[in-house]
Amino acid sequence: MTTTTASQQAFEKLKEVVPGGVNSPVRSFKGLDQAPMVVDRGEGDTIVDVDGNAFTDYCMSWGALIHGHAHPTIIDAAAKRMRKGTSFGISTEIEEKLASKVVELIDSIEKVRFVSSGTEATMSAVRLARGFTQRQLVVKFNGNYHGHADFFLVKAGSGVNQLSESSSAGIPPDVVKHVVSLTYNDVEGVRDFLQKNQVACVILEPIAGNMGVVPATEEFIRMLREETAKQGALLIFDEVISGFRAGIQGAQGKFGVRPDLTCLGKVVGGGFPVAAFGGRADVMDYLAPNGPVYQAGTLSGNPLAMEAGYQALCMIEQPGFYDELERKADLLTKPIAHYIEEQGIDASIQQIGSMFTLFFGRRSVSNYDEAMTLNVPRFAHFFRHLYAKGVYLPPSQFEAWFISGAHTEEHLLKTRDLVIAYLQEYLLTN
Ligand SMILES: Cc1ncc(COP(=O)(O)O)c(C=O)c1O
Repeated sequence: MTTTTASQQAFEKLKEVVPGGVNSPVRSFKGLDQAPMVVDRGEGDTIVDVDGNAFTDYCMSWGALIHGHAHPTIIDAAAKRMRKGTSFGISTEIEEKLASKVVELIDSIEKVRFVSSGTEATMSAVRLARGFTQRQLVVKFNGNYHGHADFFLVKAGSGVNQLSESSSAGIPPDVVKHVVSLTYNDVEGVRDFLQKNQVACVILEPIAGNMGVVPATEEFIRMLREETAKQGALLIFDEVISGFRAGIQGAQGKFGVRPDLTCLGKVVGGGFPVAAFGGRADVMDYLAPNGPVYQAGTLSGNPLAMEAGYQALCMIEQPGFYDELERKADLLTKPIAHYIEEQGIDASIQQIGSMFTLFFGRRSVSNYDEAMTLNVPRFAHFFRHLYAKGVYLPPSQFEAWFISGAHTEEHLLKTRDLVIAYLQEYLLTN
């Protein structure tokens, strides 16, 4: 890295007019003791900041860019579509094409509706579940993130036998009183709760990406499927991260489990603001105009974004796409995991396909309480070290790294060597 003067100047200006200088808090690099990046452009696996410094990117717009930055197929299709007009607020044919593709690829989705953010997808899916079941209580899990709708912002550990408390100012207690947040992967505790309470829906990240990569256990997922079906509650998989990422059928394909509703985001938009929720046709037909549950959006199904999403999904269908992605991820992760094991380092890598997290301070993480014991200052040091060497990681210990089809072997191996050298220098000697 040469200089960061332009980034710093640009960020100072941003701070004058945008709260904290960012349009989403994690971009501020809080707690990392590192001035935030202001990015200029991206191509393939590389981003370039406004000072001209290049970084190999492992954040990939938080997992959205499974084909890398500025993929020519996506850009060309979107540009062509753009010339025909960018927004109508009227149905377009491309919405049917992308919807049909989603329905074709994910067995549990019979009908799908597009929105513009993951937050809208999860918020709408829960409203639909409540409308369909005519129940109010929502079960979520500590350490799972479903966007920033009021009722999702519930403090971890609240719930059973106590009133839920919101984790943000500005949320009336009444809004969170019908939501409980339970312990992820706690088979017996959650089963007991579902048997004793009238629940509208259970929503979870079947492969959590928001406390770092922490997959649900098979046993936990099977219990949730069985128990929700028995009790008349709906099971919602929030696959905003894992959808089309963990495999072509997302986490549900890996587990072989059919949720009632699924939320998608990130990959489905090909780098444009698209998310979706879909599932059983009888449930989806409860949505307006067919049914009594209201949901809408001026830019929902935006044709430009639909075109980008359609191209992104056509490319993941190519034979061997996921094998190749995982092979690339393994080039980086396997040698690091091996080194950690061999040297007995207090760290670990948890990986599902092309998403993974390098955890500092624990040999494994299975829930939020465990994640809270991770060595966050160590991560901050590691982040700065790699940043200075031209590697951009997701700027938090509690996030997933993502590999795209555009990552080059050269960059992956270089990152592998940098990480192992770091572990050697700082964790074995300090
Ligand atoms: C699993 C999950 N659900 C929902 C969301 C919210 O999506 P958005 O940021 O597009 O509102 C996110 C965001 O990262 C997510 O990871």
